[in-house]
Amino acid sequence: MLSRLEPQSPDALLALIKLHAADTRADKVDLGVGVYRTGQGATPVFGAIKAAEQRLVDTQDSKSYLGPEGDMGFVNALMPYIFGEDATMGGRIAGMQTPGGTGAVRLAVALAQQAGMTKLHMGTPSWPNHAQILGDIALEWVPFEHANPDGSANVEAVLSAIRGAGPNEGVLLHGCCHNPTGIDYTADEWEAIGDAIAETGVFPIIDTAYQGLGSGLEEDAAGLRSVLAKVPEAFIAYSCDKNFGLYRDRVGAFYILAKEHDTLETAFSNANALARASWSMPPDHGAAAVRLILRDEELTAQWLDELDQMRERMRQVRARLAEFGMAGTVDLTPLGRQNGLFSVLPVSKEQVVQLREEHAIYMAGSGRINVAGLTMDNIDKFIAALADVTG
Ligand code: LMR
Repeated sequence: MLSRLEPQSPDALLALIKLHAADTRADKVDLGVGVYRTGQGATPVFGAIKAAEQRLVDTQDSKSYLGPEGDMGFVNALMPYIFGEDATMGGRIAGMQTPGGTGAVRLAVALAQQAGMTKLHMGTPSWPNHAQILGDIALEWVPFEHANPDGSANVEAVLSAIRGAGPNEGVLLHGCCHNPTGIDYTADEWEAIGDAIAETGVFPIIDTAYQGLGSGLEEDAAGLRSVLAKVPEAFIAYSCDKNFGLYRDRVGAFYILAKEHDTLETAFSNANALARASWSMPPDHGAAAVRLILRDEELTAQWLDELDQMRERMRQVRARLAEFGMAGTVDLTPLGRQNGLFSVLPVSKEQVVQLREEHAIYMAGSGRINVAGLTMDNIDKFIAALADVTG
């Protein structure tokens, strides 16, 4: 039976991790997978997480099952950060824990399909795993252009996708720090998108995996909140993997906005059933650590401070690139206006390979770079290499 299987190529982004690890050149630069790095190139555990983990070790008295919804203390403690002061919007929002943001996206798509969604409109380029998840669940998706060549968002494209959508169709939006382009909608654009969704009845799924890594926790939630204020229903996929540095612990949450309480309860009974059949329950450890942080003023302050430092460093790297201007044929100025870990450079697949082979610089084949991989030690080498392969 197994000989009938076709070989699959490894996930291109994850394969880069291994390629980079196997490279013995001392000056190699990893701009591949989306993890934050310090100015020294490390991805340390947050101090606030370490402290919370210590408390968990000291105080946790059971690891017995919690249920498919996971740690609801964690889920609820996050809500004011995501949704603001009226965190449940009058009882219309509730959530559950998921294995990472990927689990939340998968649950959102599976539940949307179960509820009758026939097609999802998605800006491209997008995080490659979005298309993989949609393919696996067999929900049809149609692309629209997310970005203009000048590095701004193509808001006409998303509005026309929403206005042209039929009944039972949805739109997938990135809440902030768009992956891979770093190009987010402005406040006015979010308003227009929310209005268009409200007028047409298109169902929004908002993937928020980088809150706090763009302009600030509140600022990064503003677009999402402006849409939710206008629409009757929505799904929100959330990740703590980046803003708490918990990557491999897989800490995510899935939230539903519904018109009224009964619909919300029924939707969650379906989400719980899907979760049970998929992973039964999410892993506990990282979510429990986040709950401990958010319920403790001192640990919260420490976490916010660490998050500020991350964001500030990425802003500095972006400013430095933007200030440089042209590297060969690549204009780096738009990177200063973009947000989060990622930006896409206009380089060909061949140039990406050349950067890797000749300069030991690792980036996704799409031209996406993780700006956090750049430090004051390697940024000049990167710019020179870019000029070399494109000039
Ligand atoms: C990325 O886009 O690099 C991250 O979201 C990691 C991943 O799972 O792909």
